[in-house]
Amino acid sequence: MRKKVIAANWKMYKTPDQTRDFFREFLPLVSGHDRDEIVVCPPYIDLAAALDSAKGANVAIGAQNVHWKEEGAFTGEISPGMLLTLGVPYVIIGHSERRQYFGETDDTVNLRLKTALEAGMTPICCVGEVLEEREAELTEDVLRRQCVRAFHSISAKKAAKLIIAYEPVWAIGTGKTATPQLASEAHLVIREQASEIFGKEFADNLRILYGGSVKPENSKSLMSEEEIDGALVGGASLDPKSFAAIVKY
Ligand code: PGA
Repeated sequence: MRKKVIAANWKMYKTPDQTRDFFREFLPLVSGHDRDEIVVCPPYIDLAAALDSAKGANVAIGAQNVHWKEEGAFTGEISPGMLLTLGVPYVIIGHSERRQYFGETDDTVNLRLKTALEAGMTPICCVGEVLEEREAELTEDVLRRQCVRAFHSISAKKAAKLIIAYEPVWAIGTGKTATPQLASEAHLVIREQASEIFGKEFADNLRILYGGSVKPENSKSLMSEEEIDGALVGGASLDPKSFAAIVKY
C-alpha cells in the first residue's frame, strides 16, 4: 500500500501573516488525519511562518525549488542544506512553470533532483506534456524522455524518497482536469519507465501524484484510482476549507 501524499503548491501567493492565518484555520480541519501525508509548499519567505504554525501538527512543509550547489555565487538561489537547516524536508522540482518561464530544462531538473536526494530531501519531481504534445499523441514519449533525463545517473538506492507529480500542462490552472482514466494511463507510463530505470520493486513503491485543477469536487474520483497516489494542488490549496476538503476526499 502506497500512502497518498496531498501536497499544496502555493506558487507566488501569500505573505507570512496570510500563511499563519491559513494554518490557524486549516489545522483544526485536518486534525487527526493520518490516512495521507499532507504537505504545504509556500514561497520561501513564508517557510518560517509555516514551520512555526505547523509545529507538532500532521502537516509537513516543502519548498518550491532548490539549487544544485550547497553554496556559492548564485544570486537568488537557495540550497538543500539551507532548507534542511530550517526544517524543510520536501521540495518541488521541475514544475512546468519553472520550465516554461524560468529556463528550467530536463538537465537542470536532473541536477536539482540529484542534489536534493543526496542531501536527504524528499523531492516532488514534476513531469507532464503540453497540449500540442498531447494532441500530436506524443504524451508517452514526452513522459519517458522527462523521466529518463530527470533520473539520469541516480541510483535506486539514492532515489528512495523520490515522489513524482504528473501534471499535464494543459490542466494546470485552466479548470480542465485530466479524467481519472487519462491520468492513470499517464501514471502507468511513468511507473513503467521508473521500473526500467530503477527496477520493479522501486516502481511498485513509487508514489505518483496527479496535479492540474484538482478541486474538492474531483478529488474523490481522482484519488479512488489505484494508480494515483495523491495530488499536487495549486489554486484550490490557497483556501483552507477547500484544501482540507481535498485532503479528506
Ligand atoms: P492548479 O495547479 O491546481 O492550480 O491547476 C497545480 C500545479 O501547478 O501544481
